Amino acid sequence: MTEIKMRLSTTLLPRHDQAISDRIGEADVAVVIDVLRATSVMCTALHNRANAIITCREVQQARTLASQLSPTPLLCGERQCKPISGFDLGNSPAEYTPDRVANQSLIFTTTNGTRAIEFAERAGEILAGSFLNLSAVGDRLADHHSVHLVCAGTDGELTIEDVLFAGALVSLCETRYQAQLRDDASLLARQLWCSWFPSPECVDPLRLTERLRETRGGKNLLHAGYADDLTRCARIDSVTSVPTRIARSPATFQ
Ligand code: MLT
Repeated sequence: MTEIKMRLSTTLLPRHDQAISDRIGEADVAVVIDVLRATSVMCTALHNRANAIITCREVQQARTLASQLSPTPLLCGERQCKPISGFDLGNSPAEYTPDRVANQSLIFTTTNGTRAIEFAERAGEILAGSFLNLSAVGDRLADHHSVHLVCAGTDGELTIEDVLFAGALVSLCETRYQAQLRDDASLLARQLWCSWFPSPECVDPLRLTERLRETRGGKNLLHAGYADDLTRCARIDSVTSVPTRIARSPATFQ
C-alpha cells in the first residue's frame, strides 16, 4: 500500500467557522492566495530585494506601526484597488521595482489579501502564493504532511482567479507528491484548473491573462484602470521568491 505523504485541503473563501479554523490550526503550512494582486505584489517585492513585509489588517494600524519603526518603512497597499492617501506605494506589482524597494521594509495592508493572512494565522507556517511563484511554492511544499490553501476572495465573495491558482497547486501536489485531497473544495479547484488548462502546453501567460480578465478580481482591476496588472500577475514562474512568515503579530514575511 502506498503511504500517503501529503494531505491537502482548501478554503475557497475565508469565513468564521470553527471547523475550518481547526483545520488551519492542524496544518503544517497554509498557502495564502490573492493572485490579483496582494500575493503577486509580495512575491515581486521580495524578488526585488525588499527586506521584509509586515502585514496589517487596518490602515490606521499600518500608520501607527510605521511611526514606531526606525528606519521608517514604506507604507504600501490599497483600498478598493486604489492607492491609500499618504502611502508610499499602492498595490500594483509595477511599483515594486528594485529602485523603490531594495533594502527597505514594507508595511502592507490590502482589502482582502492581508485579511486572508490573518485568517490563516493558526497554521504552523504561512507562504504567499501567486502564479509568479507557482513552481517555487510547489518546491517548498515537499515534505509537508498537511497543507491548507486559503483563497482570499474579494469583498466576501469567491473569486475564480484565486481558486484557479489553488487548482494549479493542487494539481502540482497530486502529480509530484501524490497528495490526497481532504475536501471537495480542493477537487473543485483542481477541476477548474484542468478544464481551463488541460495540458502543460496550454499553460502560458497570454492565455492565463485572458482567463484572468473574466474573473471578478480581473474585472475590478479593468474597471479601476489596471489592465496591465493582469499581464503582470500572469507571468507564471517568473520569480523564485516565496514570501514566508517569519514572525507573528504582526505577521511578517521574508
Ligand atoms: C486585495 O488584497 O484586496 C487585492 O489585492 C486588491 C487589489 O488588487 O488591489
